Amino acid sequence: MKVIEVKHPLIQHKLGLMREADVSTKRFRELAKEVAALLTYEATSDFEMETVEINGWNGPIQVEQIKGKKVTVVPILRAGLGMMDGVTEHIPSAKISVVGIYRDEETLEPVPYFEKLVSNIEERIAMVVDPMLATGGSMISTLDLLKERGCTHIKVLVLVAAPEGLKALEEAHPDIELYTASVDERLNEHGYILPGLGDAGDKIFGTK
Ligand code: URA
Repeated sequence: MKVIEVKHPLIQHKLGLMREADVSTKRFRELAKEVAALLTYEATSDFEMETVEINGWNGPIQVEQIKGKKVTVVPILRAGLGMMDGVTEHIPSAKISVVGIYRDEETLEPVPYFEKLVSNIEERIAMVVDPMLATGGSMISTLDLLKERGCTHIKVLVLVAAPEGLKALEEAHPDIELYTASVDERLNEHGYILPGLGDAGDKIFGTK
């Protein structure tokens, strides 16, 4: 698995602001979107290009265009929705495929409970978004589902990743690429990332 921790100053500055204990819902939501947009810029840097001829102001000219597969953004409910608009800011024509995962209280296993995917998803690059890669359970389950539906080209974007989650994801899906603003220190006994952001879903939605 390729893990790209994007150390760009804008990303690191914005992530630092998100870590403030008293950050407002409005600010956290704006920052989640802004960091997602910057991660998208990085995650699309290897997109294949082609030369096409167009009618320029002074006659026919050759320009570069993105070639090949189109994108579907895959937010994992609920917190992933907070990153979705950041991705579509740079890829406005991307279709959205939503996945919901819950954790079974008894088995503690992640279980998909909702999926609404674009048709012919196997023809698209799936950009999966979820702010926090903690244990990796929901992400692994989402990638299992996407691969079952035929996806072969998957990029994952998370704001913060825990080493434990990266290890689990590497074992389950070594073929994917993951972009993150930070690989943090560890998980605490409740499964929260340290130093982390706290509960990203609650902070994006203003719930407690
Ligand atoms: N989910 C969160 O929102 N925060 C964490 O730290 C871990 C999982």
